[in-house]
Amino acid sequence: MLRRRFVNIKSIKELDAFPKIPETYVEQSAVGGTFSVFVFIAISYLIFSETRYFLDSRLRFRFTPDHEIDAKLKINVDITVAMPCSRIGADVLDSTNQNLIGFKPLKEEDTWWELSREQRLHFDALKHVNTYLREEYHAIHELLWKSNQVTLFSEMPNRTITPSYPTDSCRVYGTLEVHKVAGNFHITAGKSLSLPRGHVHISAFMTDKDYNFTHRINRFSFGEPSPGIVHPLEGDEKVATDNMMLYQYFVEVVPTDISTLLRTSKTYQYSVKDHERPINHHKGSHGTPGIFFKYDTSALKIDVTEERDSLRQFVVKLCAIVGGVFVTNGLVKAAVQSFWYLMSCKFMKEKGSSDKKVNPPSQESFTKLQKSIETNELLKVSNSMNVDLAVNVQ
Ligand SMILES: *[C@@H]1O[C@H](CO)[C@@H](O)[C@H](O)[C@H]1NC(C)=O
Ligand SMILES: *[C@@H]1O[C@H](CO)[C@@H](O)[C@H](O)[C@H]1NC(C)=O
Repeated sequence: MLRRRFVNIKSIKELDAFPKIPETYVEQSAVGGTFSVFVFIAISYLIFSETRYFLDSRLRFRFTPDHEIDAKLKINVDITVAMPCSRIGADVLDSTNQNLIGFKPLKEEDTWWELSREQRLHFDALKHVNTYLREEYHAIHELLWKSNQVTLFSEMPNRTITPSYPTDSCRVYGTLEVHKVAGNFHITAGKSLSLPRGHVHISAFMTDKDYNFTHRINRFSFGEPSPGIVHPLEGDEKVATDNMMLYQYFVEVVPTDISTLLRTSKTYQYSVKDHERPINHHKGSHGTPGIFFKYDTSALKIDVTEERDSLRQFVVKLCAIVGGVFVTNGLVKAAVQSFWYLMSCKFMKEKGSSDKKVNPPSQESFTKLQKSIETNELLKVSNSMNVDLAVNVQ
């Protein structure tokens, strides 16, 4: 009975799931320590950058055909022209020849061309930022897409001081809803009169001196307001040097569907080319003075989607990093150590050839070592006996 228990405990003592490296094989070296520090730093850095990359999403831009032909297109405008409202008219004509009948017209408001100090600051900031975004928007642009800020700028501030002189300009603003086909939004002299086939602008009782198509564009966009979209015309200011000036803007509208984590929206971007020339019938430059926006929508639309790795991919990458660093470290360490070993061997050899007094381990020291090992073993055995005895006493 006693014997069986003894055996049992002994076998339990030997049952150890983890193989232990005998202490004599463990070598503590400066090389190993340095490598551990290096591994720790490398893993921390890689995990940090990988996590940052995971949290940060990427935007993907893709062109697809646009099937929503029947949709309505909203044109948001806020333009100031240096002529009284009674002298100008704003209109849209599209390629289906349906004009503004039935559409909500734009609002007109008499105002002053000269801006107040706050308004000037606001407009100049708008101009500056838009120019900057148009030219080198690469980085900021992405931020805008991801942020939820609809516009960088609030509304133009209101005038606090009313100028003492009479109004000289007209602000045309509001939103037009048109068919999604090519069209022409324009501001010309005279109020428009709709006819079954198009319309005419009645500009009687006006002399050449009354014309001045100097204008300032505070807002010109399509669709719903949306962050990330730069409206190239906003912040545009043109001062006419001639009374009969024709300003033409050729606008290519590109439908843009945005779906990011924060929202999805359908909106429009545009690119624009502009052209201006004085009208002089004697010099062969014909046409109607005014401000014309010729727009057309692109047959392709841009899908903007936000992409990021799945959690699973992220975890796999982390594991790969940790494992990879360990393996690489092992290889490098082995290489360095064997190089070290080779060098020291060579060094020893050279030393040995120079003075021949290298003693082989003597027989005496060898027996001493063996003895000490034996004593150690004995001690171990007695230790285990002690434990066993203690258990047996119970
Ligand atoms: C300016 O005034 C109008 C009406 O008086 C008001 O609706 C608008 O919010 C004001 N804008 C600002 C920026 O204060
Ligand atoms: C038109 O008006 C603007 C602003 O008042 C002025 O600077 C410009 O000289 C005028 N142009 C002409 C041709 O009268």
